Amino acid sequence: MLNLKRRAIAVSLCLSCLVAEAHTQSAIPSPQTSPFYEARAKHDPDGTGMFYMGREIAQVMGAGGIAWLDRSQRDTEEHPAEVLAALHLRPGEVVADLGAGSGYFTFRMVPQVGETGKVIAVDVQDEMLQTLHQRAAAMKVTNVEVVKGTETDPHLPPGAVDLVLMVDVYHELAYPREVMERVRESLKPKGRVVFVEYRKEDPEVQIKEVHKMSVYQLEKEMNAVGLVRVRTVETLPLQHIVIFQKK
Ligand SMILES: C[S@@+](CC[C@H](N)C(=O)[O-])C[C@H]1O[C@@H](n2cnc3c(N)ncnc32)[C@H](O)[C@@H]1O
Repeated sequence: MLNLKRRAIAVSLCLSCLVAEAHTQSAIPSPQTSPFYEARAKHDPDGTGMFYMGREIAQVMGAGGIAWLDRSQRDTEEHPAEVLAALHLRPGEVVADLGAGSGYFTFRMVPQVGETGKVIAVDVQDEMLQTLHQRAAAMKVTNVEVVKGTETDPHLPPGAVDLVLMVDVYHELAYPREVMERVRESLKPKGRVVFVEYRKEDPEVQIKEVHKMSVYQLEKEMNAVGLVRVRTVETLPLQHIVIFQKK
């Protein structure tokens, strides 16, 4: 338990420093542009000051965070093989890595969907998209499509996606309502949306509060866009895997 705690604190320190660096890069939505959000003057210093369904939206991690996303100890901290096992991907499937960052999960999903499948890697930051392009070329991977999304639209093809994966992303979406409505539209009838988020319920997970999500809050926000929780996997040390489908 002590080792876990030390590891969690280290993760917390790295994350907070990278978010602070990215502070000026996050676009803060105007409450006038959408009825779903509320601006509050009193808020968490790590948040944007914008609230959605009672939750404060976190600041976006900047491109300076790539080294942190690719840190060598990440495999031992986050057990990506267990995440992949929980996805049950099949050859030929179309999968979106929404908020792909530098592609930590994008390129791990490529062998799972095979040459007949595709991974659509979406991000809003040009530096992340450049890194994704460079890595796909270096690895000679032909079934990764890199897509530039906007803060309100991930630009996924409608009715065509088997699974949308969001790892450590959802809590920092500036417009979660709009993005999730587009995500829902992108799903095939039995398509799934999978979140991997740091456990807000667990005080041992020493991540800044606005960078954690509870299953309760996720469920509330997904129900609002017509998605229902079908499974929660609690095998990871610090995060939960929460899986949704269309109602
Ligand atoms: C903490 S990083 C996680 C990256 C990756 N999922 C991983 O686990 O390595 C969050 C990423 O989400 C991206 N992001 C934030 N808001 C987004 C949005 N509305 N649409 C797509 N990507 C977004 C950021 O640019 C950043 O690359």
